[in-house]
Amino acid sequence: MSAELPPICDYEGSDYQASFWDSGNRTYEDGVEAIALKRLLPPGGKLLLEIGAGAGRNTPRYKNFERIVLLDYSRSQLVQAQKRLGRSERFVYVVANVYRLPFVPGLFDTATMIRTLHHLADAPLALRQTRQVLKSGAIFILEYANKQNLKAILRFLLRRQTWNPFNPEPVEFAELNFDFHPKAIRHWLNDAGFRLDKQLTVSHYRSALLKRLFPTAWLVTMDSLAQLTGNWWQLSPSVFTRSTASGDSPIASLGEFFRCPACTHFPLEETPNAMKCPACGKNWPVQDGIYQFRE
Ligand SMILES: C[S@@+](CC[C@H](N)C(=O)[O-])C[C@H]1O[C@@H](n2cnc3c(N)ncnc32)[C@H](O)[C@@H]1O
Repeated sequence: MSAELPPICDYEGSDYQASFWDSGNRTYEDGVEAIALKRLLPPGGKLLLEIGAGAGRNTPRYKNFERIVLLDYSRSQLVQAQKRLGRSERFVYVVANVYRLPFVPGLFDTATMIRTLHHLADAPLALRQTRQVLKSGAIFILEYANKQNLKAILRFLLRRQTWNPFNPEPVEFAELNFDFHPKAIRHWLNDAGFRLDKQLTVSHYRSALLKRLFPTAWLVTMDSLAQLTGNWWQLSPSVFTRSTASGDSPIASLGEFFRCPACTHFPLEETPNAMKCPACGKNWPVQDGIYQFRE
């Protein structure tokens, strides 16, 4: 597998969790996302894959899952997640690229991808990779940034924005930051082998002025009501979707877990500090409880 991969928005060394969430006045956004996740998550499961887990902000919300794999391109984000969640059998920390997932096909019963798609230059490829590692009937919760949001529509109509929010093409409003059209997302999910079950529109009141004028708890309650219109129209800046993996998938055999992201061979051989691929000879280090499947 030598095909060139899309560029990556690299969070290595970023203080994203501290600056954006912990001290960035984002209690409202965090609260409404927690409600959307709760509404969409299945009641429980064995093995959940969190793609673009970052510093593990959402991981405690997967409390009814036996095991959670936190996957991120950036090792430093997973180090932060490990500090928050600790080292245990329940959490598996994996540095890898979503475009080359290092897992055997048909492994997971649930996957989530929150606030990550908006950094992906090839979203359809990431969705196909995700589908491949899911069992048939597995649940996939995807959050994406919606280009057809009310603010973008108004700005476009008032000629204060050049890009058209109704055009299905993604818009790259800053380098490796994309907003997507709901129609395009639905199309890509379907093409990747997912059946869309539910959409929730989220963060309707994401505005510095509204946050100043109204108590956060009140805005969160109003948003939680507005989320329920998500199947009918999508005009909010963020949309959560819940899909089911349709069609057949291989069933991962007991004990099979990782595959080589370079050549897709499995099983890998476990050595004291690495996972070794017997087919291509690559050694994937395991350091301080973090698997490293990124070249
Ligand atoms: C905006 S942060 C979101 C973190 C977390 N999901 C949250 O909501 O708090 C996006 C995360 O996606 C990760 N990411 C970006 N591109 C990726 C890729 N190609 N493969 C895996 N992770 C990626 C980044 O490293 C970063 O941690």
